[in-house]
Amino acid sequence: MIGIAVVGAGHWGPNLIRNFTDDPRSEVLWVVDRDENRLTEVRARYGSVATSSDVADALRDDRVDAVVVATPTATHHAIVKAALEAGKHVMVEKPIATSATDGEELCALAERTRRVLMVGHVFLYNAAVREVKRYLDAGHLGHVYYVSLVRTNLGPIRTDVNAAWDLASHDISIMNYWFDGEPATASASGGSWINPGLEDAVFATLRYPDGVLAHLHASWLHPRKARDVTVVGDRRMLTFDDLAHTEPLRIYDKQVTDERSAPGFIDTFATFRASVRDGDITIPRITPGEPLRTECQHFVACVANGQAPLTGGREAVAVVRVLEAMQRSLAGGGREEPVR
Ligand SMILES: NC(=O)c1ccc[n+]([C@@H]2O[C@H](COP(=O)([O-])OP(=O)(O)OC[C@H]3O[C@@H](n4cnc5c(N)ncnc54)[C@H](O)[C@@H]3O)[C@@H](O)[C@H]2O)c1
Repeated sequence: MIGIAVVGAGHWGPNLIRNFTDDPRSEVLWVVDRDENRLTEVRARYGSVATSSDVADALRDDRVDAVVVATPTATHHAIVKAALEAGKHVMVEKPIATSATDGEELCALAERTRRVLMVGHVFLYNAAVREVKRYLDAGHLGHVYYVSLVRTNLGPIRTDVNAAWDLASHDISIMNYWFDGEPATASASGGSWINPGLEDAVFATLRYPDGVLAHLHASWLHPRKARDVTVVGDRRMLTFDDLAHTEPLRIYDKQVTDERSAPGFIDTFATFRASVRDGDITIPRITPGEPLRTECQHFVACVANGQAPLTGGREAVAVVRVLEAMQRSLAGGGREEPVR
């Protein structure tokens, strides 16, 4: 049985408490939050859990094997550092920290103390995202030209990080996973309207190896919740809508055929149509499930077996490096910035 302390019981933390409570291999022993109202709610639902406003109380408890951190991003570094120094395994919400330097320090500390450091890049535990990875690796889409990723909603509005750090961190983790690496450059434009200095909407372009272009639209100031991804390859194209729970993926057997073999002047409908292949649209079956549950189970398995997590500290720092390049670009008027 893995003893767990969850730090942060705000918007997201209760989902973590529920999943680690439901897993027969783990037990939530402590919930820590600075807000006494949140702790009152936790006690009403989970009577046997110890609560505190100070993480040090949970760190002193020898029964606690692992600390799960769901506090605002700006607090991650200090809490994760204290937990690792106390000899605990850690799962921390994304992004790992507000700088790559801080993230790297945590990775080095976890390696030195031989503790698991996992980061909650939850989309890598999403069955549809993993299915797309299989298509890409098998070459079903051919060479990928570009990917468009739209992640919008009205709120929640953060006060410690901008919309890119909060929302686009998911899309960067998905792109790095699908394309096995980091983009070479990033450029971004955005606007701050609600809180000065914190962009509410960010539009970014990332250049991945092999000419793959990614365009990201991240906003918490938008009338419609959207989680739309489009991948355009030279053989096939696909769309991924994370809000379409039973049918999130569509594979389009569509492509542009080589127009150079067509006559230079196209003036018939038949010849015009021949330059575009407009085939079937298929909807693969994706078994519905809660990605966070898979993520939490993976963390428990990593702690129990000493295995390296799919979304470890190093992968999370790679995401932060891209966010930092986007931040430099935002400050530089949208200039293209190297990621390394
Ligand atoms: N994976 C996802 O899809 C997903 C979704 C939502 C949020 N998140 C991440 O989860 C984290 C928390 O987000 P949220 O929406 O729950 O935020 P929130 O503001 O709703 O909740 C944060 C909680 O942490 C508490 N807190 C703050 N500082 C603390 C400290 N030093 N010690 C103890 N408690 C402290 C606050 O009182 C609050 O209850 C963020 O990193 C966010 O990016 C991830």
